[in-house]
Amino acid sequence: MDKKRILTGDRPTGRLHLGHYVGSLQNRIKLQDEYDQFVMLADVQALTDNFENPEEVRKSIKEVLLDYLAVGIDPKKTTILIQSLIPEIAELTVFYLNLVTLERVLRNPTVKDEIKQKGFGQNIPAGFAMYPVSQAADITIFNASLVPVGEDQLPMIEQTREIVRKFNSLYGQVFIEPEALLGEVKRLPGIDGNAKMGKSLGNCIYLSDSEEELKRKVMSMYTDPNRIHPTDPGKVEGNPIFVYHDVFNPDKAQVADLKKRYQEGKVGDIEVKEKLFVALNNFLTPIREKRSEFEGKDKILDRILKDGTEKARGVAGETMKKVRKAMKIDYF
Ligand code: TRP
Repeated sequence: MDKKRILTGDRPTGRLHLGHYVGSLQNRIKLQDEYDQFVMLADVQALTDNFENPEEVRKSIKEVLLDYLAVGIDPKKTTILIQSLIPEIAELTVFYLNLVTLERVLRNPTVKDEIKQKGFGQNIPAGFAMYPVSQAADITIFNASLVPVGEDQLPMIEQTREIVRKFNSLYGQVFIEPEALLGEVKRLPGIDGNAKMGKSLGNCIYLSDSEEELKRKVMSMYTDPNRIHPTDPGKVEGNPIFVYHDVFNPDKAQVADLKKRYQEGKVGDIEVKEKLFVALNNFLTPIREKRSEFEGKDKILDRILKDGTEKARGVAGETMKKVRKAMKIDYF
């Protein structure tokens, strides 16, 4: 039997961070044998809010690709593609736009948050408001049944499913309804204590951070704001430093001991942070090393992108034949 397909992706707007790792990358690494996995560098989507910074998007294509290779996404198993080089996605998006109301796209909670965060006010670029529709095209044009993503992407998958139902009921059964797959850790807090690690929030630990950057970030991490002295009993639940220990420190006995002493006021923040630094550095060292193996190897990187995109374009073309037939625009 053919393997089921995964489609997921990232906006190339900077390097990837630990939040990306626990939210989606970890699942991609795990599932690339079992599934026919496609991973998209969503440059068209990145341009919806970076149309004034095309340089940043262009540069980030390689950075994100390096992050993929560094964490172990294997181009022999996973098809890595560039969204803008598959114009069929734009074509399908146009047809999908007929099936969605303006009111509905603006009700998408993630889009709403982003509009607020970016300060668009009443001047929302139409392309930005519509990106969930284009994301529905990303997923369905490849017939994906599973989409590994972070929690913030759930509204996109929900909207995709609605579009699929509408399309199929109008034009006949063409698409399958995809399902989201969340990471083990639903949401990783930022180093500043914000509930979410995000590039635009400036509170990230990047997969490619050097040892020095990592140390500086960990030592400056937000902890329990009510704890002034190491002898004050501290709060462990929801404290980002312990959230990270739970996720990235494999020495569970050490974590349990630190938590106990923290709650009793018998350990300083510095020791907790230093131990976290060691755990994170052990986690990131092989990722950094793998990244440096590929850095600057532009020929190899371009080949990966070209081959992946070409294969993906073939699949998208086949789907569009079915779409045109179903929509009765297969004239000749
Ligand atoms: N919206 C995703 C993000 O901001 C990126 C993305 C684009 C995506 N197309 C996708 C994710 C399709 C999953 C499936 O990270």
